[in-house]
Amino acid sequence: MGEPIKIAVVGSGYVGLVAAVCFAEIGHSVICVDNDEHKVAALQGGDTLIHENHLPDLLERYRNTRVRFMTDLGEATRECQAIFVAVGTPQSETGDADLSYVEAVASEIARSINGYKVIIEKSTVPVYTNEWIRRVIERNGVHRDAFDVVSNPEFLREGTAVEDFLHPDRIVVGADSERASDLLSMIYSPLTKGEYYRRPDAIEGCCSELKPPPLLLTSTKSAEIIKHASNAFLALKISFINAVSNLCEAADANVEQVAQGIGLDSRIGPKFLRPGIGYGGSCFPKDVAAFRSVAEQMGVDFSLLGEVEKINSNQKKRFLSKVRSALWTLRGKRLAVLGLAFKGDTDDIRESPAIDLVEMLLAEGCTVVAYDPAAMKRAQSELPPSGQMIYVTGIEEAAKDADALLILTDWREFARIDLRQLHAIMRYPIIIDGRNLYDPQDMVNNDFTYLSIGRPAATPSREPAVLAV
Ligand code: UGA
Repeated sequence: MGEPIKIAVVGSGYVGLVAAVCFAEIGHSVICVDNDEHKVAALQGGDTLIHENHLPDLLERYRNTRVRFMTDLGEATRECQAIFVAVGTPQSETGDADLSYVEAVASEIARSINGYKVIIEKSTVPVYTNEWIRRVIERNGVHRDAFDVVSNPEFLREGTAVEDFLHPDRIVVGADSERASDLLSMIYSPLTKGEYYRRPDAIEGCCSELKPPPLLLTSTKSAEIIKHASNAFLALKISFINAVSNLCEAADANVEQVAQGIGLDSRIGPKFLRPGIGYGGSCFPKDVAAFRSVAEQMGVDFSLLGEVEKINSNQKKRFLSKVRSALWTLRGKRLAVLGLAFKGDTDDIRESPAIDLVEMLLAEGCTVVAYDPAAMKRAQSELPPSGQMIYVTGIEEAAKDADALLILTDWREFARIDLRQLHAIMRYPIIIDGRNLYDPQDMVNNDFTYLSIGRPAATPSREPAVLAV
C-alpha cells in the first residue's frame, strides 16, 4: 500500500489515538505524542483508556512498532514530516473554543522544525485558526517556506470511530499549497485509491475498492468551516426532529411515522432524525456554541443556532415532566435508570443528557438505581456521592422494586429486555423511554404503561390514561 510516511499525531484523545492507530493500519509509521506521562505509559502497555470498537485490537497489533507513544514533541517533530494536531479545544466561559493547547503545540513544533514540515490541524477549530498557527510558527523564527499549515477535519463518531476513520463519507483537506496537499493525498491514498479495502484483513465498513472515499480539496478556511457547519447542521437536524416530536405529542401523532415520511425524501435523508432527550457529548454542544460565537464575532447573525440549543436543553425538562405525568410526585420514588453515557457504545459521559437528568431526579428527591454497560466508573467519579444514588451491575438489579424504569441511553441491550421478567420484578410496570427503543403496542401487550418521545402514551386498557402535569 502506497509509500509509508512518517507521521506524528499530537494528542491521544479520541481523535488523536484513533487517527494514530488507523494511520498505522493503512501502512504509515506513527509517533503519538501526549504530555500526560501516565497516559503514554498506559498506551505503551496496551491500555486504550477509552471504550471503542476495534481500538484494542489495532493498538495491540501496532503498539511500540508502527505506533510509538512518547511525551517528547520535539523529537517527534524532528523525526516526522507530517504533524497532525489533535489536542483538545474545550469550551471557554464565553462559548468560544479555547485554543491555548493548539497555540502551545504550535510554538513547541516551531522550536524543533529541522526541514520542511506540514502541520495539520485535526482538532475542531474556528475559521482562521490555521492562519494563527502559521503566525505563531513564523513568530518563533521559522521561515515561511519551511512549513505549511493544513486543515484536515475529522468526522468520526465515538463508538464507531475506527470504522468511521477507515470508511469515511469524505476526506476534507484544506490546503493553500500544492506541496502540502500532495503530502496529504499520499497519506490518504490507501483509502482514496481503494488499496486498503482489497486487503483480506481490512476492517469492514461502507467503502470498498470500487467505492473508495472521495478526497475534497478546499482552502484552509473552507475546511475549518466545513467541520463546524457539519456538526451544527447535524445538531440542528436533531433539534428539528425533537421540536417536531413535541408537536406530535400535542397533536396525538407519531413522530416515528413523521420522521420516516420526511426522511424518505432524498434531499432530507433518514439519518439523525431520531428524537430523544437531546444531543450531548464532547462535540455538538461545544461546537454549536463555538460556531455561533465565531459568527457573532464576524458580525453574522446566526441566532438559529441559539434556537437549536434552546430546543436541546428543553428536551430534558420535557422528559422530566413526562416522568412526573406518569408518577405524579417524585420525592421518595425509586427509579431504575438505564444508561448514563451520552449515547450507546461509548463510556463517555461528557455533556450527557442522561447525567443531567439523573442530577435533576436526585434534586427532586428520587432514589436513582442506575446501570450502564460501560459508563459506570466515569459516572461515579462525576456525580457527587449520595445515598440516593445507587449503582448496580445489570438491568434486573436496577429494575427490582422500581416505581418506574427510565431508558436514557440507546444501548442495544436496553432494546432487548425480557419484558415479562421485567414486569415481575418492578413495583409498578411503568417505562419512560427517552430513546424510543420499543414499539408501544408490545409494551401494552406486556401490560406496561409506556411513555416515549413524540408518540402517544401507551397504557393497558384497565389503566387510566396518563395525566399531563
Ligand atoms: C459527532 C458527529 O456525528 C461526528 O461526525 C463528529 O466527528 C464528532 O461529533 C466530533 O466532532 O468529534 P459524536 O459526538 O461521537 O459525533 O456522536 P453522534 O453519534 O453524532 O451523537 C451525538 C449526540 O446526538 C448523542 O447524544 C446522540 O444520542 C444524539 N443523537 C444523534 C440524537 O439524539 N438523535 C439522532 O438522530 C442522532
